[in-house]
Amino acid sequence: MGTRIIGTGSCLPETVVTNDDLAKIMDTSDEWISTRTGIRERHLAKDETTAGMSAEAARRAMENAGVTAQEIDLIIVGTVTADQVTPACACEVQAEIGADHAVAFDINAACSGFMFALHIAHAYLQTGVYRTALIIGAETLSKIMDWSDRSTCVLFGDGAGAAVVRADGQPGGLLAFDQGTDGVKGRVLSCPNRSNNNPLVETSRELKYVHMDGQEVYKFAVTQVPASLQKTVEAAHLAMEDIDFYALHQANIRILQAVAKRLKVPEDRFPVSLDHCGNISAASVPILLDEMNRKGLLKPGMKIALAGFGGGLTWASAVLEW
Ligand code: UT7
Repeated sequence: MGTRIIGTGSCLPETVVTNDDLAKIMDTSDEWISTRTGIRERHLAKDETTAGMSAEAARRAMENAGVTAQEIDLIIVGTVTADQVTPACACEVQAEIGADHAVAFDINAACSGFMFALHIAHAYLQTGVYRTALIIGAETLSKIMDWSDRSTCVLFGDGAGAAVVRADGQPGGLLAFDQGTDGVKGRVLSCPNRSNNNPLVETSRELKYVHMDGQEVYKFAVTQVPASLQKTVEAAHLAMEDIDFYALHQANIRILQAVAKRLKVPEDRFPVSLDHCGNISAASVPILLDEMNRKGLLKPGMKIALAGFGGGLTWASAVLEW
């Protein structure tokens, strides 16, 4: 029974911040950011929230899929920047869109969050317990950045992307997937939680934000992502050249180029949104997919490879027949 993406949607904050805008508030330049990363601008949230953008992306995905909120059985949000510890972002989305029958929860797999949500939804749908799922990747990373660390804060943006996923009894859909984690190396990309408020515990109340060893994450990405994609494409009984598009997590153009080179696939099969979005962690794959969908790039029968990678460390890939 095929698990198929039947609709996509996305939502970006209104405020666009260019590299030149950043150069006015820190020691950086458009030249450094664009040549090292491919990023030219990003959307940063002011009034927008993770739940609000998630709900808007969800509405657009449901409209695109032609399904109503009443048909949604399951809502999973991949995020590391939910607006609150509780309730979960997915529960706020449920309330906002009126998906009364759904069960809703968040997962934390950082930049692989949307991919992990897809695989979890697939597992639920294949059991027959649920028929239609809404999976979302959403972040307001700007609120957890260390804005005094120019090597990380210039890379990230805010936004949400969503997909409606359905088990429809047809062949095709999700053909194969791979996912993994390496907790031992997790420290190379981290963000401590809020400080302990227990009055019995002596602890620092200092606020801490995202810390990243960029070069270690880069090395991880350019080895683990091609390996995972290779495994998944083989499991789908396909060759690399059979894949029409590789829609990867948007962290750095140099990572996309390195993965293309390792897989011996032309770079033009790797669509790019990081130039105008930056890295939006869990949201980057569904936003990219929605852009491709709305441009009419995705045709029935096409083979699409997806991959996410990042904090945890986590990685995940999937091959879909559109
Ligand atoms: O979602 C997954 C998350 N993360 C990633 O995928 C990140 C993967 N890593 C990367 O993309 C790259 O490692 C970065 C883009 C983060 C950094 O690029 P790099 O080529 O590894 O640069 P670097 O950290 O080695 O820094 C080179 C120089 C340093 O100056 P010195 O020591 O050579 O004088 C930095 O201080 O660039 C300097 N630098 C900057 N200069 C201007 C670092 N950030 C900036 C900046 N503007 N924003």
